[in-house]
Amino acid sequence: MDVTQELLKSNHVYTLGALGLVAILLLLSSTLSSPLSRVPGPWYTRFTDVVGRLHWMAGRKAPYIHNLHQKYGPIVRVGPREVYIADPQVVKSIFKVKNEFPKSRWYLDFVPFTITVFNTPDIPTHRRFRRLLSAPLSESGLKEFMPQIEQKVNLAIQGMAEEHKTRGAADIYKWWLYLTTDVIGELSFGESFRMLETNKINQYITDLQGAGKFGSYRSAFPSLFRFSYRFGIPLPMSSAAQAAVRRIRMYADESISRHRAIVEREGPDSRPTVFTKVYKAEDEASITQDEIRDHAQAYIVAGSDTTSNTLTYLVWAVCRNSKVKSRLVKELEVLPDDFAYEDLQQAHISYLEHVIDEVLRRFPAAPSGLPREVPQGGAELCGYHIPAGYTVTTQNYSLHRDPDAFPDPEKFDPSRWENTTQAMKDAFLPFGGGSRVCIGLHLAKIELRLGVARFFKKFPNAKMSSLEGMTDEDMVPKLFFLINPQGHRCLMELE
Ligand code: HEM
Repeated sequence: MDVTQELLKSNHVYTLGALGLVAILLLLSSTLSSPLSRVPGPWYTRFTDVVGRLHWMAGRKAPYIHNLHQKYGPIVRVGPREVYIADPQVVKSIFKVKNEFPKSRWYLDFVPFTITVFNTPDIPTHRRFRRLLSAPLSESGLKEFMPQIEQKVNLAIQGMAEEHKTRGAADIYKWWLYLTTDVIGELSFGESFRMLETNKINQYITDLQGAGKFGSYRSAFPSLFRFSYRFGIPLPMSSAAQAAVRRIRMYADESISRHRAIVEREGPDSRPTVFTKVYKAEDEASITQDEIRDHAQAYIVAGSDTTSNTLTYLVWAVCRNSKVKSRLVKELEVLPDDFAYEDLQQAHISYLEHVIDEVLRRFPAAPSGLPREVPQGGAELCGYHIPAGYTVTTQNYSLHRDPDAFPDPEKFDPSRWENTTQAMKDAFLPFGGGSRVCIGLHLAKIELRLGVARFFKKFPNAKMSSLEGMTDEDMVPKLFFLINPQGHRCLMELE
């Protein structure tokens, strides 16, 4: 190599080096001057939120965020455009009914391909859906569905008893899932999936679970998925998920059309669903057939594992603590063996309510972040200005472990609810808050009360089983958007 070439080469190296240095300086100055640069948080979150995304994929994001709160305080930066908040008073100001912070666009990646009351960030669209859909799911609206719900709870208890006889233990995780899915299936489509009768998961539910997993991946790396659609480059799980989505839609379309035909032929009272009353509302603000189909699907996703996993964790947590179990069983003695939901309401068994509240606190079905977008004008939160369009997120996993509200927060202790303080009320958001509070909470409460009371009335001696290698390890929670025991089973001895 002659001298001229060597000079040229070294000039190249200098130029590249200088460009690299300028790029680093620009990046540094933009991150240092970024609006979130003063908010406490790990250094890398000034540049990226990828660490949180990887924890999300592994089902560990909630404890990761909780550790950050413990280290950095009630507000923590988790990425260049997102903070988490764990101060209950500040959370109240985010979950307002009026002047609310809308849901972030993350929900559209998490539940893609449809727009529903669950995922829409658009406030007028949400208000329209909520206005049309709330009444049938209210306490009084649900009265007409009580016979179906009671019958299905009986089938679940019967299924558990039979399985215990033949197998030596009953998998309550499975039976509670059958129960809540069959209930919400019948209330949405007018016909149950008959999983309680057949003791089998049907294809529709398997597809829904697959689509849910796909939504989790997609919401973790939305740009990757958008890029793959735009340039037609299929990702490994995309085509299977799309086939599942097509099957789900076809099944839901057929079920809704079948039910609608019955209602048109025999009248709305023939086999009511939570949508029957809006079939006929045909003004501009009403709901279309496709929207009803999409909501039926949304209800099945939102209304099955949530309630069933709460039931599973409740029975497991109660059976691990003999004092809690004997007290619950004793208090249920006031009920006749063949009690109905009405008897349960009249009996006002406060300990049952405390046990339910404690499981919703300690094992909340939706423990992870509920992201919201800061509205026009920005917001002052925990002493920091967060600009409009940035994301503020809260998680029940942390709120429900607030030691000021819940001393010894890891302990499952229903008696803490005997003296409910304002601090406990403020930090307790198992069903979310504000205008986006869970629309299915009354249905969930009915299923929880009835399911738990019937279970402990029929099986007062229930205890954990060690059959087939079942241990508490199976119950370690995996925390995605929803909680799930990692073993996907909970075997109990019932006698
Ligand atoms: C123990 C059972 C349940 C728990 C703990 C639970 C929890 C929640 C939470 C925390 C939210 C707020 C989500 C957010 O802000 O992103 C929510 C919303 C929602 N839940 Fe539930 N849920 C339960 C049962 C049900 C049931 C049975 C249904 C059936 C209809 C249901 C349907 C919905 C819907 C549609 C929304 C969206 C509401 C809106 O944005 O206006 N949930 N739920």
